[in-house]
Amino acid sequence: MTIGVLGGGQLGRMMAIAGVALGQRFVFLDPGAESSAGHVGNLRVGAYDDEERLSELARKSDVVTYEFENVPVGSARFLNELVRVYPPPRALEVSQDRLDEKRFFASLGIPTAGFAPVATNDDLEKAVATLGLPAVLKTRRFGYDGKGQWVLRTREDVENAWEALGAASLVLEAFVPFEREMSILAVRSKTGETRFYPLVENEHRGGILRVSYPKSDAWTPELQARAEAHAGRVLAELDYVGVLAIELFITGGELVANEMAPRVHNSGHWTIEGAETSQFENHVRAILGMPLGSTRMVGYSAMINAIGKLPPRDEVLAIEGAHLHAYAKHEAPGRKVGHVTVRAESKRELCDKIEALLPIVDPEGSPRPCR
Ligand SMILES: Nc1ncnc2c1ncn2[C@@H]1O[C@H](COP(=O)(O)OP(=O)(O)O)[C@@H](O)[C@H]1O
Ligand SMILES: [Mg+2]
Repeated sequence: MTIGVLGGGQLGRMMAIAGVALGQRFVFLDPGAESSAGHVGNLRVGAYDDEERLSELARKSDVVTYEFENVPVGSARFLNELVRVYPPPRALEVSQDRLDEKRFFASLGIPTAGFAPVATNDDLEKAVATLGLPAVLKTRRFGYDGKGQWVLRTREDVENAWEALGAASLVLEAFVPFEREMSILAVRSKTGETRFYPLVENEHRGGILRVSYPKSDAWTPELQARAEAHAGRVLAELDYVGVLAIELFITGGELVANEMAPRVHNSGHWTIEGAETSQFENHVRAILGMPLGSTRMVGYSAMINAIGKLPPRDEVLAIEGAHLHAYAKHEAPGRKVGHVTVRAESKRELCDKIEALLPIVDPEGSPRPCR
C-alpha cells in the first residue's frame, strides 16, 4: 500500500520509518523542499491547498493521513472525496480551533478549564470578570509550542494584551494551577479495535515540551481509567481512526483536558523504544485496518527533546540504553530538531541515565521523573 501524508516533518518521518518496516510506501505533501520526511519517502513539494497537488497525492495513495494539524480542513475534505482520509477531517476541524475544541470536550462531559470566547475588548473585560485572574488568553487558531498565548496576571496585562492582539479571534481560559501535566495517547483502528498507552507525564518549559515519561510517580490506575474513558468518548464521537493525543492537567486529583491532537504526538515518542508497539506503527496499522499492537511498556523509559540544536552524538550514544533520533532539520532556536529516548530495566537505573543525559541534551532540564 502507499500511504499519502499531508505534512513532511519529523512526525511523518518517524511514521514512515515504522511503516516501511511493514512493507508500506509513503508519499508526502509539504510546502518545504527540505522536509525531513523526504529522506524516507517520496516528497512532493506544494501548498496544502493546491488542488492539483492534492489530486496527485490522492492518485498515488491508497489512504491519506496527516502529521500536521494546521493543514486546511478544506484540503482534507477535498481529498476525502477521492481517497479515504484518516483521522476523519472532522477531528482536524475540531482540534484547529481552541474554542470549538473546548466546547466539544464539554459536550462530551470532559472537564476543561473555564473558558469564554473573546472577539472584542468588551468580551475580554466580561471574560476576565467571570473567570478572574490569572487567566490565559489564546488565539483560537494556529498556536503551537506556546506561541499565540499570553498569561494575564494583572489589570495591566489585560490592557496590554488587548493593545497587542486586538482583532484576532481569541479565547480566554481560566489559569489551571496544575500539579502535573500528562497526556493520554489512544489508537483506534478502521475495524474499531481500540488501545491506550499508559499516561505520560510531560514537562514544558517556555511553552515547549522538554521531557516525557510514561507512568510517573503520579500515575494511578484511577487516573488511567478516567483518561481512557475521556479519550474513548472522543474516539467514539468522531468515529476516529488513527492515533489521538489528549493533553491533560492534573489538579487536585482531577483530570482537566487542555487540548487534543488528531495525530501522532511528541509525548508518544518514547514508545519507539519504550513500548511493545510504537505510536507510529500503531497509527499505520490503524489506518490500514491491521490488528493493533500491544501498547505495554517495555522496561522504564523517558524522552528528552533536543530543542534548537542536536546534542553531541557520540556522547549520547555512549550512554547505554540511550537512543538518538535526529530529524535532519536545520538548527534554529526553539525548533524541535531531535530527541533522545533512554530505556532502563529499573527506575533507579533510568534516573542515573537521565541525570547523565540532561547536561548534554537539555542543560536547563530538571531530573523531574526522579524527584
Ligand atoms: N489554562 C491554562 N492554565 C495553566 N497553564 C496553561 C493553560 N493553558 C496552557 N497552559 C500551559 O501552556 C502550555 C501550552 O499550552 P497549549 O494550550 O497546550 O498550547 P500549545 O498548542 O502551544 O501546546 C501547556 O502545556 C501548559 O503548560
Ligand atoms: Mg499543548
